[in-house]
Amino acid sequence: MKDPRGFEPQIVAFCCLHCAYAAADLAGGSRCAYPPSIKIIAVPCTGRVDVLHLVKTLEEGADGVLVAGCLPGRCHFQTGNLYARQRVDHVRKLLEEIGLEAERVRMINVSAGMGVQFAELATQMAETIAALGPNPLHTRSAPPAQQDAAVEEMS
Ligand code: FES
Repeated sequence: MKDPRGFEPQIVAFCCLHCAYAAADLAGGSRCAYPPSIKIIAVPCTGRVDVLHLVKTLEEGADGVLVAGCLPGRCHFQTGNLYARQRVDHVRKLLEEIGLEAERVRMINVSAGMGVQFAELATQMAETIAALGPNPLHTRSAPPAQQDAAVEEMS
């Protein structure tokens, strides 16, 4: 899903194995398309996803990060998805404090049978990030002169 400028948002999705990963698989199997630029990382529970994972993923060049967990009350570890929600909210506040868009990080909750909904929510995320543009922290694809300027800006 490239925008008219040729920008294709790179999104990392941390998906709980018990629900969202299965939903993503179901979406693929049901031919419910979602953007291929969404890279899925399976985690045993979204409660395993830490603030540092989210921040580091953006720092390493992702334009957006999606955390996809079980429905509220359905987490196999009882409260993992609740902790994940708190961490996502915390990172969103951190992003705003440093002048980045909170929308770059989002949490969704789906069950294993919600393949269509997963595809829709993932596509919405990709559209949001496409509208925001590239992650300003991402300097690896920029020419060396721009990379130097970005490093100076941050220091
Ligand atoms: Fe799915 Fe915890 S087991 S979010």
